[in-house]
Amino acid sequence: MPRRFLVTAALPYANGKLHVGHVAGAYLPADIFVRYLRSRGDEVAFICGSDDHGVPIQLSAEREGVSPPEVVDRYHASQERDFRGLGIEFDIYGKTMSPRHIATSQAFFQRVYDNGYLKKRNTSQLYDPQAGRFLPDRYVKGTCHHPGCGNPEALGDQCEKCGRTIDPLKLGDPVSVLTGARPEVRDTFHWYFELPRFGERLRAWIEGHPEWRSQVRQFTLGLLKEGLPERAMTRDLGWGVPVPLADPDAGGKVLYVWFDAPIGYVSFTAEWCERTTGRATDYQTWWKDPETSIVHFIGEDNTVFHALIWPAMLLAEGSFELPANVVANCFLNFQFPGKDEEKMSKSRGTAVWIEDYLREFEPEALRYYLTSVAPENQRTAYRADEFVGHTNDELVATLGNFVHRTVTFAHRYFEGKVPAAGDLDPQDRAHLESLRSLPGRVGAEIEGMHFKAGLETIMAEARGANRYFDSKAPWQTRKTDLGSCGRAIHVCLWTARTLATVMAPYLPFAGEKARKMLGLSAGEFVWTRAADPLVAGSSLGAAEILFKKIEKAPGEES
Ligand code: MF3
Ligand code: ZN
Repeated sequence: MPRRFLVTAALPYANGKLHVGHVAGAYLPADIFVRYLRSRGDEVAFICGSDDHGVPIQLSAEREGVSPPEVVDRYHASQERDFRGLGIEFDIYGKTMSPRHIATSQAFFQRVYDNGYLKKRNTSQLYDPQAGRFLPDRYVKGTCHHPGCGNPEALGDQCEKCGRTIDPLKLGDPVSVLTGARPEVRDTFHWYFELPRFGERLRAWIEGHPEWRSQVRQFTLGLLKEGLPERAMTRDLGWGVPVPLADPDAGGKVLYVWFDAPIGYVSFTAEWCERTTGRATDYQTWWKDPETSIVHFIGEDNTVFHALIWPAMLLAEGSFELPANVVANCFLNFQFPGKDEEKMSKSRGTAVWIEDYLREFEPEALRYYLTSVAPENQRTAYRADEFVGHTNDELVATLGNFVHRTVTFAHRYFEGKVPAAGDLDPQDRAHLESLRSLPGRVGAEIEGMHFKAGLETIMAEARGANRYFDSKAPWQTRKTDLGSCGRAIHVCLWTARTLATVMAPYLPFAGEKARKMLGLSAGEFVWTRAADPLVAGSSLGAAEILFKKIEKAPGEES
């Protein structure tokens, strides 16, 4: 029975280009997962888009002296290009500034309000007297107020060091990022989401998911133990989704960007349904049917929002299913030879931009490298010196080479056809036994969200495949015993099929090349048939190089 999955990847803010850290964090693992599910025959919707609202966008617009929509359009297009170039293929790449999204998030807010979970409260807020405006979220920075943290650069919405949400009024030595002024405290009012009322249900829900990554469970259960604070879900800002309430005090206020952004997953699903089936209401199949597994892929800094606040919003709205998994990756640091490991950062220029990467290199090398160092359970680093070795020694010399040498050999000595199997010897049988179990072993890792282990499993098999080829020495047996030579090549082609099928979710462009080389139709190149033999006598396609060697690491000055 095909299963149904709704897979999302965090919506990047539409105010910047993508770098390898973003890709490693949410998008690449999500894409691998989706491609794997599709190859198995499961039904999948893969949803993403840009996060167009909130302080980050407005700040960028102010800094560049253009309007927020101009910033959004520019970066939305650049992000979409980068994803496509890397083979990260969403069903839809939506925009939260679209009219449908605005209407969807207003209706959602209204329902949460009608259900009694949003309360209007007087509150004090930081205000920049020089700029003459309130300073919500990232308009202010200062020292993190959480015990044991002390990050002096905490932004007013979230501390990047300890990952917790910030109460701007509690920041040490706050300064306005607009003018550098010391903010004053002024009165305003906002609608607060009564998060504490969901503490128990969230705890029970998370405890019921022992299969989640432990850092997500530990972090969220820890926060639940401290007790969740109420959180303002509206802002005094010029750019965002207008607060839909009839209350006259709602005038001029917008929804907090972290309220509207995750609703983007829903509004984009509806948009996609309308495009594909003509019925936007079909989104309910994906969001309101317990048979659908909803899986969110995110970077570690989004954990609070996806594993606590968003599920609480879904509960408060009342008609949605909760996510089946929230898959967070830790940060990927950055390290160049002779330099210290650093946080990837736009402002410090310590990042490899996807746009630059794609001008010179192929997507597969990056997909491979980032998976092999994936920060699944702890922070890891992009190491320029390692990148070359992983590409040339593993991807090119082991995986690519095995497929290429096998197909080339069949072309040269078997007229480009799959030779007959004949009688298998014990070595062949042992090799094939391991091969037959490969899709199951890799699949189990992917289902468990262990993408790196899945890739290592494939590479171990590829090394075994090269050893098998070498020990069979077909270049010798072709002169002495053509039957035995044909049998070895038969087994190697079979192996190439299995390897190519299971590597395809990781390396889709090379997978497609390999499929053609092996003379398989798209219908034959699926997970469930990965370990099937190739039909003796069938024709192979032309041999191609699957992966190119590289001379220097991407991002490194030449
Ligand atoms: N824009 C946020 C970030 O880059 C992520 C938003 S994810 C969503 O950190 F769920 F809210 F959309
Ligand atoms: Zn902190």
